[in-house]
Amino acid sequence: MRGVRKVSPTPDAQSPAPAVRVATLADLETVVALRIALLREHAGNRVYGRLRPDAPQRARKLFAEQLEAPNEVTFLAEHGGRAVGILRCIDAGGSPLLHPARYAYVASVYVAPAARRAGVLRRLMHEAEGWSRERGLREMRLHNAADNPLAGTAWDALGFEVVEVLRVRALD
Ligand SMILES: CC(C)(COP(=O)(O)OP(=O)(O)OC[C@H]1O[C@@H](n2cnc3c(N)ncnc32)[C@H](O)[C@@H]1OP(=O)(O)O)[C@@H](O)C(=O)NCCC(=O)NCCS
Repeated sequence: MRGVRKVSPTPDAQSPAPAVRVATLADLETVVALRIALLREHAGNRVYGRLRPDAPQRARKLFAEQLEAPNEVTFLAEHGGRAVGILRCIDAGGSPLLHPARYAYVASVYVAPAARRAGVLRRLMHEAEGWSRERGLREMRLHNAADNPLAGTAWDALGFEVVEVLRVRALD
Protein backbone atom coordinates (compact mmCIF):
# COMPACT_ATOMS: atom_id res chain seq x y z
CA MET A 1 0.00 0.00 0.00
CA ARG A 2 1.37 3.40 -0.90
CA GLY A 3 1.20 6.12 1.72
CA VAL A 4 -0.71 9.36 1.28
CA ARG A 5 1.72 12.21 0.65
CA LYS A 6 1.46 14.77 3.42
CA VAL A 7 0.40 18.18 2.21
CA SER A 8 2.08 20.96 4.12
CA PRO A 9 -0.43 23.16 5.95
CA THR A 10 2.07 26.00 6.23
CA PRO A 11 2.17 28.56 3.42
CA ASP A 12 5.46 30.18 2.56
CA ALA A 13 5.26 33.61 4.16
CA GLN A 14 7.57 34.96 1.45
CA SER A 15 5.18 33.98 -1.34
CA PRO A 16 2.96 36.93 -2.29
CA ALA A 17 0.09 34.90 -3.74
CA PRO A 18 -0.65 31.26 -4.34
CA ALA A 19 0.14 29.92 -7.78
CA VAL A 20 -2.68 27.90 -9.32
CA ARG A 21 -2.13 25.18 -11.90
CA VAL A 22 -3.96 22.23 -13.42
CA ALA A 23 -3.27 18.95 -11.64
CA THR A 24 -2.07 15.95 -13.65
CA LEU A 25 -1.82 12.25 -12.91
CA ALA A 26 1.63 12.99 -11.45
CA ASP A 27 -0.18 14.89 -8.65
CA LEU A 28 -2.36 11.93 -7.69
CA GLU A 29 -0.95 11.50 -4.16
CA THR A 30 -1.32 15.22 -3.43
CA VAL A 31 -4.89 15.19 -4.75
CA VAL A 32 -5.72 12.16 -2.59
CA ALA A 33 -4.20 13.82 0.50
CA LEU A 34 -6.13 17.08 0.05
CA ARG A 35 -9.45 15.43 -0.77
CA ILE A 36 -9.19 12.96 2.13
CA ALA A 37 -8.33 15.91 4.43
CA LEU A 38 -11.54 17.58 3.21
CA LEU A 39 -13.57 14.50 4.14
CA ARG A 40 -11.85 14.19 7.53
CA GLU A 41 -12.76 17.80 8.28
CA HIS A 42 -16.42 16.75 7.91
CA ALA A 43 -16.14 13.84 10.38
CA GLY A 44 -19.31 14.95 12.19
CA ASN A 45 -21.42 15.16 9.03
CA ARG A 46 -24.23 12.63 8.58
CA VAL A 47 -23.08 11.73 5.04
CA TYR A 48 -19.40 12.63 4.76
CA GLY A 49 -18.52 11.39 8.28
CA ARG A 50 -18.93 7.75 7.19
CA LEU A 51 -15.45 7.52 5.70
CA ARG A 52 -14.33 4.00 4.84
CA PRO A 53 -11.02 2.91 6.45
CA ASP A 54 -9.63 2.13 3.00
CA ALA A 55 -10.85 5.40 1.48
CA PRO A 56 -7.34 6.54 0.37
CA GLN A 57 -6.81 3.31 -1.61
CA ARG A 58 -10.27 3.54 -3.18
CA ALA A 59 -9.65 7.21 -3.91
CA ARG A 60 -6.54 6.54 -6.01
CA LYS A 61 -8.43 4.67 -8.73
CA LEU A 62 -11.37 7.08 -8.75
CA PHE A 63 -9.30 10.26 -8.63
CA ALA A 64 -6.89 8.98 -11.31
CA GLU A 65 -9.88 8.53 -13.64
CA GLN A 66 -11.12 12.00 -12.78
CA LEU A 67 -7.70 13.58 -13.42
CA GLU A 68 -7.75 12.11 -16.92
CA ALA A 69 -11.41 12.75 -17.72
CA PRO A 70 -11.90 15.18 -20.63
CA ASN A 71 -14.92 16.95 -19.10
CA GLU A 72 -13.33 18.07 -15.85
CA VAL A 73 -10.29 19.76 -14.36
CA THR A 74 -8.63 19.78 -10.95
CA PHE A 75 -6.78 22.92 -9.91
CA LEU A 76 -4.05 22.97 -7.25
CA ALA A 77 -2.99 26.12 -5.39
CA GLU A 78 0.65 26.13 -4.31
CA HIS A 79 2.73 28.23 -1.98
CA GLY A 80 6.45 27.79 -2.53
CA GLY A 81 5.80 24.62 -4.48
CA ARG A 82 3.67 23.08 -1.72
CA ALA A 83 0.03 22.29 -2.38
CA VAL A 84 -2.26 24.26 -0.06
CA GLY A 85 -5.58 24.15 -1.90
CA ILE A 86 -7.66 22.18 -4.38
CA LEU A 87 -10.80 22.70 -6.46
CA ARG A 88 -12.38 20.46 -9.05
CA CYS A 89 -14.62 21.79 -11.84
CA ILE A 90 -16.81 19.56 -14.00
CA ASP A 91 -18.57 20.33 -17.28
CA ALA A 92 -21.88 18.78 -16.22
CA GLY A 93 -25.06 18.05 -18.13
CA GLY A 94 -28.29 19.62 -16.88
CA SER A 95 -31.81 18.23 -17.08
CA PRO A 96 -32.95 17.95 -20.73
CA LEU A 97 -36.14 19.70 -19.61
CA LEU A 98 -34.39 22.78 -18.29
CA HIS A 99 -31.99 25.50 -19.31
CA PRO A 100 -29.02 25.50 -19.36
CA ALA A 101 -28.07 22.23 -21.03
CA ARG A 102 -24.67 22.28 -19.30
CA TYR A 103 -23.21 24.01 -16.27
CA ALA A 104 -19.95 24.08 -14.31
CA TYR A 105 -20.13 21.94 -11.19
CA VAL A 106 -17.60 22.89 -8.52
CA ALA A 107 -16.51 20.14 -6.10
CA SER A 108 -13.73 18.94 -3.78
CA VAL A 109 -12.88 22.41 -2.52
CA TYR A 110 -10.31 22.46 0.27
CA VAL A 111 -7.72 24.91 1.56
CA ALA A 112 -5.23 23.74 4.21
CA PRO A 113 -6.05 25.38 7.57
CA ALA A 114 -2.88 27.49 7.86
CA ALA A 115 -3.39 28.86 4.33
CA ARG A 116 -6.96 30.07 4.85
CA ARG A 117 -8.23 33.65 4.69
CA ALA A 118 -5.48 34.58 2.25
CA GLY A 119 -7.51 34.46 -0.95
CA VAL A 120 -6.64 30.89 -2.00
CA LEU A 121 -10.27 29.98 -2.65
CA ARG A 122 -10.76 33.20 -4.62
CA ARG A 123 -7.72 32.34 -6.79
CA LEU A 124 -8.95 28.78 -7.38
CA MET A 125 -12.41 30.05 -8.30
CA HIS A 126 -10.93 32.61 -10.69
CA GLU A 127 -9.24 29.79 -12.62
CA ALA A 128 -12.37 27.64 -12.52
CA GLU A 129 -14.43 30.52 -13.91
CA GLY A 130 -11.96 31.01 -16.74
CA TRP A 131 -11.98 27.30 -17.59
CA SER A 132 -15.80 27.29 -17.53
CA ARG A 133 -16.16 30.37 -19.73
CA GLU A 134 -13.73 28.93 -22.28
CA ARG A 135 -16.01 25.90 -22.57
CA GLY A 136 -19.02 28.11 -23.13
CA LEU A 137 -20.53 27.50 -19.70
CA ARG A 138 -22.47 30.35 -18.16
CA GLU A 139 -23.48 29.02 -14.75
CA MET A 140 -21.71 27.44 -11.78
CA ARG A 141 -23.29 25.18 -9.16
CA LEU A 142 -22.02 23.39 -6.07
CA HIS A 143 -23.12 21.59 -2.93
CA ASN A 144 -21.85 22.42 0.52
CA ALA A 145 -22.36 20.66 3.85
CA ALA A 146 -25.16 22.25 5.87
CA ASP A 147 -23.18 21.84 9.12
CA ASN A 148 -20.20 23.83 7.80
CA PRO A 149 -21.01 27.51 8.42
CA LEU A 150 -17.56 28.55 7.20
CA ALA A 151 -18.24 27.11 3.75
CA GLY A 152 -21.65 28.78 3.71
CA THR A 153 -20.05 32.13 4.49
CA ALA A 154 -17.41 31.70 1.79
CA TRP A 155 -19.93 30.69 -0.90
CA ASP A 156 -22.24 33.55 0.06
CA ALA A 157 -19.28 35.91 -0.29
CA LEU A 158 -18.50 34.46 -3.72
CA GLY A 159 -22.06 35.04 -4.93
CA PHE A 160 -23.61 31.55 -4.73
CA GLU A 161 -27.32 31.45 -3.78
CA VAL A 162 -28.87 28.49 -1.93
CA VAL A 163 -31.48 26.89 -4.23
CA GLU A 164 -31.78 23.30 -2.95
CA VAL A 165 -31.36 21.40 0.37
CA LEU A 166 -30.33 17.73 0.72
CA ARG A 167 -32.32 15.82 3.37
CA VAL A 168 -31.42 12.37 4.78
CA ARG A 169 -33.49 9.83 6.74
CA ALA A 170 -32.37 6.34 7.75
CA LEU A 171 -34.67 3.39 6.97
CA ASP A 172 -35.06 1.37 10.19
C1 LIG B 1 -14.10 27.38 2.82
C2 LIG B 1 -12.62 27.48 2.40
C3 LIG B 1 -12.45 26.71 1.10
C4 LIG B 1 -12.26 28.96 2.18
O1 LIG B 1 -10.95 29.04 1.64
P1 LIG B 1 -10.05 30.36 1.82
O2 LIG B 1 -8.87 30.25 0.93
O3 LIG B 1 -9.80 30.59 3.26
O4 LIG B 1 -11.03 31.48 1.27
P2 LIG B 1 -10.62 32.95 0.80
O5 LIG B 1 -9.50 33.47 1.64
O6 LIG B 1 -10.41 32.95 -0.67
O7 LIG B 1 -11.93 33.76 1.19
C5 LIG B 1 -12.98 34.01 0.26
C6 LIG B 1 -14.08 34.74 0.99
O8 LIG B 1 -14.80 33.80 1.82
C7 LIG B 1 -15.14 34.42 3.06
N1 LIG B 1 -14.46 33.70 4.15
C8 LIG B 1 -13.56 32.72 4.02
N2 LIG B 1 -13.19 32.26 5.22
C9 LIG B 1 -13.87 32.98 6.13
C10 LIG B 1 -13.91 33.00 7.56
N3 LIG B 1 -13.16 32.15 8.30
N4 LIG B 1 -14.73 33.88 8.17
C11 LIG B 1 -15.49 34.74 7.46
N5 LIG B 1 -15.48 34.79 6.10
C12 LIG B 1 -14.69 33.91 5.45
C13 LIG B 1 -14.67 35.87 2.99
O9 LIG B 1 -15.74 36.67 2.50
C14 LIG B 1 -13.57 35.77 1.97
O10 LIG B 1 -13.35 36.97 1.27
P3 LIG B 1 -12.48 38.17 1.95
O11 LIG B 1 -11.26 37.52 2.54
O12 LIG B 1 -12.19 39.06 0.79
O13 LIG B 1 -13.34 38.76 3.00
C15 LIG B 1 -11.68 26.92 3.50
O14 LIG B 1 -12.00 27.53 4.73
C16 LIG B 1 -11.79 25.42 3.67
O15 LIG B 1 -11.12 24.66 2.97
N6 LIG B 1 -12.63 24.98 4.61
C17 LIG B 1 -12.78 23.53 4.91
C18 LIG B 1 -13.30 22.76 3.74
C19 LIG B 1 -14.56 23.35 3.17
O16 LIG B 1 -15.40 23.88 3.87
N7 LIG B 1 -14.67 23.24 1.86
C20 LIG B 1 -15.81 23.73 1.13
C21 LIG B 1 -16.75 22.62 1.00
S1 LIG B 1 -18.08 23.04 -0.10
